[in-house]
Amino acid sequence: MIEDSLSVAAITDGLATRFIGQEVTCYPGLPSTNGAKEGTVIVAEEQTAGRGRIKRRWLSPRGSIALSIILYPPLAYLPSLIMVASLAVARSIEQVTGLKAQLKWPNDVLVNGKKVCGILVESDVRGDKVDCAVIGIGININLKLSEFPQIAPMATSLSQELGREVSRREVVQSLLAQAEKLYLALADGDSVFKQWRDRLATLGKKVQVSSEEATYKGTAESVAPDGSLLLRQPDGSLLKIVAGDVTLRQ
Ligand code: BTN
Repeated sequence: MIEDSLSVAAITDGLATRFIGQEVTCYPGLPSTNGAKEGTVIVAEEQTAGRGRIKRRWLSPRGSIALSIILYPPLAYLPSLIMVASLAVARSIEQVTGLKAQLKWPNDVLVNGKKVCGILVESDVRGDKVDCAVIGIGININLKLSEFPQIAPMATSLSQELGREVSRREVVQSLLAQAEKLYLALADGDSVFKQWRDRLATLGKKVQVSSEEATYKGTAESVAPDGSLLLRQPDGSLLKIVAGDVTLRQ
């Protein structure tokens, strides 16, 4: 028999394409190669064009975690996916490092007031069905922020806060276990929402919220179960903001 293994190298070495098949994952066996199974996780050692929220770039060099979780949730779960993801990240950081993690609306995870993780949830919805939802999570684990001056003022890494390196494997395993627990708990109603709300460091603070359309100032009064921020404006009115970026005001 000829030597004909279908390993990644066997397929990509000398492959005459620009993009199809330039990234291949091989499995020993699958139920079907069409359709990633619910819960499939895609991990990259580093990303060269990481995507952030609001069309920003996301820096994820070696030493960080960049992963995506594929889910096929019911439509009603969609707004809760950012809650599941951010809570899972916060819990895994606390479990593995003992550091205290806080959440900044809508889904940043902070350690000592600086961003350590960003989350981007993307989904395809057709009618009242979710074709696919992808939770993308980037965590700064073993990064020296002095090497990344462009983000150093507002970002940190777990190693920087702890003064020692952290096992990415432990964080990933803890994160996936927490995410599964929280995702399954969505069936039990509003407990995930309440846990997320209670961890939001933003609430009660004077903030400025920038969305793609405008910038608003006020007090971050509360959040709604659909994940929106309820901002009390200086004129006393309550504004519901679906997406935006929060900065704390003095
Ligand atoms: C943000 O805070 O702007 C969200 C950042 C999300 C980054 C993660 S890393 C894994 C996944 N792949 C991407 O390109 N982005 C998300």
